[in-house]
Amino acid sequence: MSIWFNEQEKIFHLQTQNSSYVFCVVEHDALEHLYYGKKIPNDNIKHISNRQIYAHHAHESRDSRVFSASTVGLEISPFNAGDIRTPSVVYDCDGKLDCNRLRYRAHKIYKGRTPLNGLPYSRENDEAESLEILLTDDEGRIEITLTYVVYASVDVIARSQKIKNVGGMSVSIQKWSSMCLDFYGADFDMVTLNGMYLYECAGLARVPLQRGVFKNESLTGTTSHNRNPFIALCAHNADEHSGETYGFNLLYSGNFAEEVSVGSLGDTRLIMGISDTGFCWSLKAGEEFVSPETVLTYSEEGLGGMSRNFHDHIRQNIIEKEFAFSPRPIVINSWEASYFTVSEDKVLALAAQAKDCGIDTVVLDDGWFRPHDQKGLGDWRTETDKFPSGIKGLSEKIHALGLKFGLWLEPEMVNEDSELYRKHPDWILSTSKTPLISRFQYVLDLTRDEVVEYVANRISEELQGAEIDYIKWDFNRYVTEAGSYQMPQGEVYHRQMLGTYKLLSALKNRLGNMLFETCSGGGGRFDLGMLFYSPQIWTSDNTDPYARVYIQYGASYAYPVSALSCHFTRGDCTTGRPSTYDFRYRVAAFGSYGYELDLSEYSAEDKAKFKQYSEQYRKDEDLNLSGDLYRLISPRTDHFCAYMKVSKDKNKAQLTFLELNATGFVESTTIKLKGLDPNKVYKNEETGAILHGATLMNVGLRIGDLYRAKREDGEVLTFYAV
Ligand code: DGJ
Repeated sequence: MSIWFNEQEKIFHLQTQNSSYVFCVVEHDALEHLYYGKKIPNDNIKHISNRQIYAHHAHESRDSRVFSASTVGLEISPFNAGDIRTPSVVYDCDGKLDCNRLRYRAHKIYKGRTPLNGLPYSRENDEAESLEILLTDDEGRIEITLTYVVYASVDVIARSQKIKNVGGMSVSIQKWSSMCLDFYGADFDMVTLNGMYLYECAGLARVPLQRGVFKNESLTGTTSHNRNPFIALCAHNADEHSGETYGFNLLYSGNFAEEVSVGSLGDTRLIMGISDTGFCWSLKAGEEFVSPETVLTYSEEGLGGMSRNFHDHIRQNIIEKEFAFSPRPIVINSWEASYFTVSEDKVLALAAQAKDCGIDTVVLDDGWFRPHDQKGLGDWRTETDKFPSGIKGLSEKIHALGLKFGLWLEPEMVNEDSELYRKHPDWILSTSKTPLISRFQYVLDLTRDEVVEYVANRISEELQGAEIDYIKWDFNRYVTEAGSYQMPQGEVYHRQMLGTYKLLSALKNRLGNMLFETCSGGGGRFDLGMLFYSPQIWTSDNTDPYARVYIQYGASYAYPVSALSCHFTRGDCTTGRPSTYDFRYRVAAFGSYGYELDLSEYSAEDKAKFKQYSEQYRKDEDLNLSGDLYRLISPRTDHFCAYMKVSKDKNKAQLTFLELNATGFVESTTIKLKGLDPNKVYKNEETGAILHGATLMNVGLRIGDLYRAKREDGEVLTFYAV
């Protein structure tokens, strides 16, 4: 059991393997947050509540001056209801921001969980337990349900909140976050993943909290290349391996906002959810609005422990079960091989050579229905001069070679130069007669069911009978004007996301539930919302392995390595920088591995090398799919990057060491391994050396010795318990 209710004290205690989350019902039936952190016994901890009222802090009671909504922790903080801090929800009934004080009315604890309708969520499993708290306002106009789902073994709590208009008035919501979390004290560093196109997640930022409000927000209609919805709060002394760390993320792929505010009493509040910028949702009588889900984790094992909790939760409970732990396809993708000059002959030529390289899936990227990026998107008509056998015929030929077939789609978009746009100029998101254009395309208005239907029908009709094993789902521009011909503007961004999830589900149903890889011009939509539908995401259009080290290392804070799609490429397409084959392989094998090369440019010797890489990847893929990641040296703070992957039973471990800038310090530096069993004896596959886990973790290895071959290649050492 992981959820307790102390009837007498009215305390709720949510417990995971290593953490406790505690709140209670107090005066005036308010809901007060008491604690989130390391696991504690089921004690009454109400003494921790701040029961001192300061000047200007208002209170409801006329008899006692001990309880003010402004001085205690809250589970939800409505605007205009006594709490003067940053509100987590803002709404009004019939245009009046009046009396929004919320009262606890009832609760429900049950095994399992209820899915979030139309939104991604952490899936039900054998251990999931749910708590639903019902709150109402005094006038009985609205009902609010706060939902907590506990995933005890991975130390994760999932939260979401729902509002229902039960009073028959018109309710207008201006802000509806997924959660409000208060901490007494502000001794935290905040960690965020920033970036930009070609540098996604690479700008890991860590700063001490300051008084004021910090907002991590995306307004691109996606989670964006620029800011990721992951956020962490950790103790100032927390590092990769120890120290209290709280991690948070959202299962959402659109505009989001996270506000971290430090108040005048030195308290910290974190609010996460859909961005309130431009948001306004009207709730008619009987209607309800549900927030996306947010996931929270706590670890005493620093940022590394936090990441491992998230990796486990994502693999076990967010990614579809049939893909999460299964070997991923080793693809050859046509994009960097041919870009828009792709043709059936070229794809078949790739396929003919693929087997020699240990590749099992040939992916036809953009260009199969258009000559360049300026026309045809939305119409989805195969260019039969380039693909005379059609997609069906091509897929059959690829299968006849004993390979699988994958196809690129960008279903949410339409080129201006397309039959679809000429016929339905109102089917795009826009706010003017001269809509802003980007990459010659518009975003289709997926708030309209007929548009979702059209896209699902057109694509499935075009691909009817084709043997497709893999879909790459792209999204190559931001939403810059979220106007719909049918919807109120304040609802469009979120309704567009609901439409996107609907389209994803529809196409998965129609095409068959094959592996989807999502992508948004690289890592522009790298989030848990997408991972609910696709077990892996194209990490970045930047395939220079030196740049990828930073991008992938950053992304690993929030996402399991198997979710990161990484390809061995020429390596120099984006930066012109040379790199060795071994270095390229080692970097790409960090995640789900594949190729993006014109294989005809490579010799038989090269292909034999690629085959070796593919086989090596397959041999070690178990560590990617189900192992634990230990980051040892950060590329952001050092000349090197090093990490370990360790199997759950600690019988296999692999150390990867990469040098990014040649430096003289190498010879005198040691590296201490992590995550091994101290009592097990390990044999190093490459050197034959036999040492205890305790020795490898305390004495470590000399970095100079890791360079037996060439420094520019990096090094990988594999350890097996003997
Ligand atoms: C952006 C993707 O990230 C690339 O891999 C490629 O699929 C192009 N789009 C195709 O237009």
